[in-house]
Amino acid sequence: MKKFSAGLQELTILENEKIRVTRYSEFLLLYLENLEFSQQRICDFGCGTGVLGIYAAKRGAHSVTGFDIDPDAIDLSNRNIDLNDCSNFQPYLITDHGIDEKYDLIISNPASLPTVKASGKEFFSGGIYGIDMIQDLFNFSARHLQKDGCIFFLQTSLSSINKAANYAHDKGFNYKIIGVFQTEIRGHYQEFWHRVEQNQRTGDAHFVEINGVHSEIVYLIEAKYRDLP
Ligand SMILES: C[S@@+](CC[C@H](N)C(=O)[O-])C[C@H]1O[C@@H](n2cnc3c(N)ncnc32)[C@H](O)[C@@H]1O
Repeated sequence: MKKFSAGLQELTILENEKIRVTRYSEFLLLYLENLEFSQQRICDFGCGTGVLGIYAAKRGAHSVTGFDIDPDAIDLSNRNIDLNDCSNFQPYLITDHGIDEKYDLIISNPASLPTVKASGKEFFSGGIYGIDMIQDLFNFSARHLQKDGCIFFLQTSLSSINKAANYAHDKGFNYKIIGVFQTEIRGHYQEFWHRVEQNQRTGDAHFVEINGVHSEIVYLIEAKYRDLP
């Protein structure tokens, strides 16, 4: 269990071995402090523990809908919703829900590490370029974001920024980097480091190396529909 403050909100979040609150989520929460949630219809895409949606619900959202591909994430989100007393947040398994809602804001901390997807790795793996879930996010948003709505999500530099930005463009969105942080890479990334180095050679990954220590750059992205001519 993790207890922490995000702005004025006190959050208590249950985690398990697979699904947890990461440095990425905490960075996104810092930025979300600047947003107005009151009376907004929010979607937490890839809700995991439910931490982002719970934060939005506590900040006065009209409603929050969460989606995830992992049934364990839906169970955990439901437990955290009860624990934090957020009756206006409902999480769904993405395949089960006949979605017909439109959202003002879609927030997401997508799985974007460049490793192949496998059962049990839903939490972090984004396919070989790290952008599979980001593509799903844009496909979903093209159908479910209000015309004047906005998407906020994170993307690590270990995934392909160019491929994600071009995909967003093809789906009718702009892709704008509005925040950035640098964080040291931990040991478990060794498992897919060969892929990062391979992708670096084609410009589909980058990282900083200072005195042998590697860091990734995590970008905060804002995406909106591009103006129609
Ligand atoms: C890095 S975690 C973020 C969880 C949580 N939002 C947070 O910030 O702590 C990514 C989440 O997205 C889910 N996920 C992965 N691929 C997905 C997809 N294609 N569609 C929806 N959810 C997905 C994973 O199961 C995982 O819970």
